[in-house]
Amino acid sequence: MVHVRRNGARISVRLTRKQSATKSPLENLYNVDLKKYNLHRNYEFPQKVQSLIPMGTPPFIQGEHDYVTQIIRALYHFKQCALIGPSGTGKTHIAYLVCELTGLPMYEINCGLQTSSYDLIGRYIGLGKENWIDGPLVSWLKNGGLMYLDEANMMKQDVATRLNPVLDTRGHMVITEKDGEVVHRSKHGYLMITLNPFSAEFAGTKPMNAAFRRRMTVWVNFDYASVGDRIVPAEAKLIAKKGVDEDTAYQILRVGAEMRRQYKAGDLPYGPSLGDLMHWAVLIGDGLDPVVAGENTIVALTSDSIEVQGDVRRIIERVFKSD
Ligand SMILES: Nc1ncnc2c1ncn2[C@@H]1O[C@H](COP(=O)(O)OP(=O)(O)O)[C@@H](O)[C@H]1O
Ligand SMILES: [Mg+2]
Repeated sequence: MVHVRRNGARISVRLTRKQSATKSPLENLYNVDLKKYNLHRNYEFPQKVQSLIPMGTPPFIQGEHDYVTQIIRALYHFKQCALIGPSGTGKTHIAYLVCELTGLPMYEINCGLQTSSYDLIGRYIGLGKENWIDGPLVSWLKNGGLMYLDEANMMKQDVATRLNPVLDTRGHMVITEKDGEVVHRSKHGYLMITLNPFSAEFAGTKPMNAAFRRRMTVWVNFDYASVGDRIVPAEAKLIAKKGVDEDTAYQILRVGAEMRRQYKAGDLPYGPSLGDLMHWAVLIGDGLDPVVAGENTIVALTSDSIEVQGDVRRIIERVFKSD
């Protein structure tokens, strides 16, 4: 229902579904219907977690994919979803973007770091019940928002054990650390986990906890926009914004795409993200020779091994010297 003026009088008009569906520029950019997939209808997140709602997330390139809609739709219907893809494909980036678009507070936990269950649940900062501070997991359960568990396959067993009961959308947690207080999962508590399928050869990665796997209904596969011979102009455009001309931006991207291809084939230990390629461009834009700038950024980033560094150097030289 909207109010309009007609012949000087103020009247109410009921809009048809189509008329009310004017999309915001961001909805158009990411091809998503945020009115249909409203993740907190008639619910405002409490003041104390409002600052966790991201703002000003940099532009995200979807390539030929429709990741934003896939994720938001999965959260809307199932409350949780899993993102699978190599590191640097924008999983963390899109998690922030999704939170900004849908207005969710974001709680990011990197399971690969030495995170213990105490870091997640909370702790006393003095004597007495009033001196307890909720950790991110408890705060998320109580207030809602998006719990983002990065590299969930690296999760330590003590953390997994505490998380399992809250994976049910109507799950709850008993805070044994705090007199057995029972906290229920907010109706607006969404969960997203990420897995890196290519890290299996590295230490620390285990097959994902079966309880976790079973509860994830939707799995979104992530890939780099440009890989091998597939070059996505939008990626080159973002690289060019860092102060290099268009030709140089495409050269940088071609090197990146070839490295990504080799990483996915198991021939390189790392595939550069768009962020990594943009860092390389910043140094070239500052006047450094592309090969020297590459040495200081993606060559060193890929590996400490002289042999592997030589492989990367050859890719760079092939692309930059052939033009
Ligand atoms: N599709 C994309 N569009 C824009 N930036 C991207 C994209 N993919 C990756 N990036 C950038 O590359 C870097 C690594 O991305 P990140 O989200 O941390 O990857 P992941 O979490 O999958 O390892 C970040 O600087 C990110 O902004
Ligand atoms: Mg990440």
